[in-house]
Formats: sequence, C-alpha cells, structure tokens
Amino acid sequence: MPQFFASAPKGLSDALEIELKELGLNVTEKSQSGVMFESNWEGCYKANLHSRIASRIMKPILDFTAYQPEELYNAIQKHDFTKYIKPNQTMTIDASVRDGRMHDQRFVAMKVKDAIVDQFREKFDVRPDVDNTRPDLRVQVRAVKNQFSVSIDTSGSSLFQRGYRRDVVEAPLKENLAAGLLKLSEWDRQSSLVDFFVGSGTFLIEAAMMALNIAPGIHRKTFGFMKLENFDRAVWDKLVDEAIAAEKEEIPFEFFGFDIDRRAITIAKDNAKRAGVDHVIQFKAESVATVAPPVEKGLIVVNPPYGARIGDEDNLRDVYRDLGYTLKHRFQGWDAWILSGNKDLIGDLKLKASRRFMIYNGSIECRFLKYTMR
Ligand SMILES: C[S@@+](CC[C@H](N)C(=O)[O-])C[C@H]1O[C@@H](n2cnc3c(N)ncnc32)[C@H](O)[C@@H]1O
Repeated sequence: MPQFFASAPKGLSDALEIELKELGLNVTEKSQSGVMFESNWEGCYKANLHSRIASRIMKPILDFTAYQPEELYNAIQKHDFTKYIKPNQTMTIDASVRDGRMHDQRFVAMKVKDAIVDQFREKFDVRPDVDNTRPDLRVQVRAVKNQFSVSIDTSGSSLFQRGYRRDVVEAPLKENLAAGLLKLSEWDRQSSLVDFFVGSGTFLIEAAMMALNIAPGIHRKTFGFMKLENFDRAVWDKLVDEAIAAEKEEIPFEFFGFDIDRRAITIAKDNAKRAGVDHVIQFKAESVATVAPPVEKGLIVVNPPYGARIGDEDNLRDVYRDLGYTLKHRFQGWDAWILSGNKDLIGDLKLKASRRFMIYNGSIECRFLKYTMR
C-alpha cells in the first residue's frame, strides 16, 4: 500500500493525526512536521479534499544518501519519473538542503531536474519544460546531512488556499492554522462561536464550514494529483459528489464576528459569502472594549493583534487590557481561547490560563491559551 505524508503547521501534528484518523485513514507515523499515512490514491484524494489542517499531501518516492552530484544524479535516475507526466507537460523542483556536502540548493535542484529530463529525452526524445509558477509536476527534494528524501506534491498549491479568500486584513491567519486551532479548542461544532477580532473572518468561516460539513477543498479548482498520469477522474468525482451530498444547509446556532475596523467587516462578509457560510455568521463593527455577549452561551476564539506584524505596543497594551476586562466582566461562564505571539501583552490580560499550546504562526512562536471565566 502506498504511503503519503501530510504536512502541518508546527504544533498541529497531533490535531492532524486525529483528523486523518477520523477520515478513516491509516496513520503510520507522526513527526513535528506532519503525519504519514498508508492508503491507496483514493485516500490521497480524500485527504486533499477533506483535511482542514494539512498544508500539503506528499507522496514520498525516494530516500537515499548522496555526497557527490553524480550520486544524486544516479539515485534520481533509478526512479522512473516518466510515469507521472507526459513529456509536453511542465515541472518544477523545490529543493532545500542543510548541513551537507552539497549546500547550494539551486545546484541540487538543477541536478535533480537534469536527471529527470534526461529520462524523458531518452524515452521520448522530448523533455518537459520547467514552470515554477503553475507546474504540472512539483518534485520536492529535502536533504539534511547528505540524507535525501524526494516526494511528489499531490496538492499543487498549498491546501490553506481554499479559494474563498480574495481580500484579507493585515496579518491574517492561514486557513489550515485556524482550523487546527479550532480542533485544539475542542469546540463541539454544535454551539455558537464568537470572535472579537474577526479580521478577514478566518476562524468563523472555517468553523462554519465545519458545522455545515462543507469540505475545505470543495471550492478549489485544481489539485496537483489531477495533472498526474494515474489521475482517476471517476474516483475524484465520486468523492466530490459524496462531499456535496453530506453538506448541511442550516444549523440551529450562529457565529458572531466583531472588529473595530469596518473594512475588515466588509472583507470578512465577502469571504464568508464566497465560502457559502454568510447565512450563519453575523458580523458587526465594534471594539472589544464594548462588546457584549450576542447569545447566552458559546465559545470565544480570538487572534488579537500582537505587534509582530501590526500595531504598536502601547496601543496594543490597551487592546489586551480591554480584552481581559471584557472577558472578566461581561462573559462570566464562557470559555475563551486566545492566540498571541507576544508574552508581555498576554500578561496585560490579567487572567490566568487553564490550558496552553505552543504553536507557530509561520515563523512566529505563539501561544494558544484557554481561559475559563468563572
Ligand atoms: C491579527 S488580526 C486578526 C486576523 C484574523 N484572525 C484573520 O485571520 O484575518 C487582528 C484584528 O483585530 C482588529 N482590532 C484591533 N484592535 C481592535 C479592538 N480594539 N477591538 C476590536 N478589533 C480590533 C484589527 O482590525 C484586526 O482586524
């Protein structure tokens, strides 16, 4: 049975493992960077369509040691790449190398490309062109201390690109990071969710798609596997039909998004509309200083600004003080999850966290903290 690797934002491998198991996939290994699972290609299509947390689904094809360029070339030559695409299709090599004899990743990428195109030339007398923006075949090469691993990217563009976000505020969360955090929060998918710093709407749109059972990949036009020779259109169409049939039209609760910035509210509304979830989310321009519970009970999940990319620290202190005050005085009996990359600002909340996770938002080390308002 083939093995596939689902990569995830750092800190979310456990959540991804649970998600893939819930999808019925056979998880075989887990590391900091993601989860390995064993499956036929249908399982690979399924993970691409349904995983809310994975960044990409890769098909590992080669592992070897190489110290010299010729060793690298020969190892690549041993694997038949002509089975993946036709010679008139395009490809790209994405290489990253660390702590090895060959330390120039452009050189490594070129050597791998040469080994692949030579195979096509020998067999067909024609070679695939390189296209770095929209290639049909993306080959990923990773090397650490002369140990190489080579994979085929079955996703194409990264899976956080769901296709519903056209415009964003400054410092938006990636969709798969937001979905992973919702998974960590253990939100039950059956109760209201409130976001005081809604920005482009990512948390609430992801949550609404979960509640309405809308597959995260349903709005995407293409995936990498669609360009591969073995693509089975009938199997894919069946998965898409099943996903659409399982969607819900209505749910007996709502989502509430607030933001001080009117432009953010307009952007979030547009994004929610494109995602097909605007009928279950209410948006309102309002400051965290004045916001009051829009329903009797629910869960709060927020990503306030934290200075690494936007805002200045003094103003942000006031925002965190307002957030702490609002939670303490107006949201008694609620639970709140806060994602922040700034420890000092978290101190300004003047609240004590009952649970915490370490998460990376890109390269920024963040904390995802739970507060229970008694
Ligand atoms: C880091 S962004 C949130 C990004 C959002 N999670 C997303 O994925 O797009 C922070 C948001 O907080 C809003 N904001 C800043 N100060 C605020 C305040 N006092 N009350 C409410 N919203 C505020 C900003 O307008 C911005 O949209």
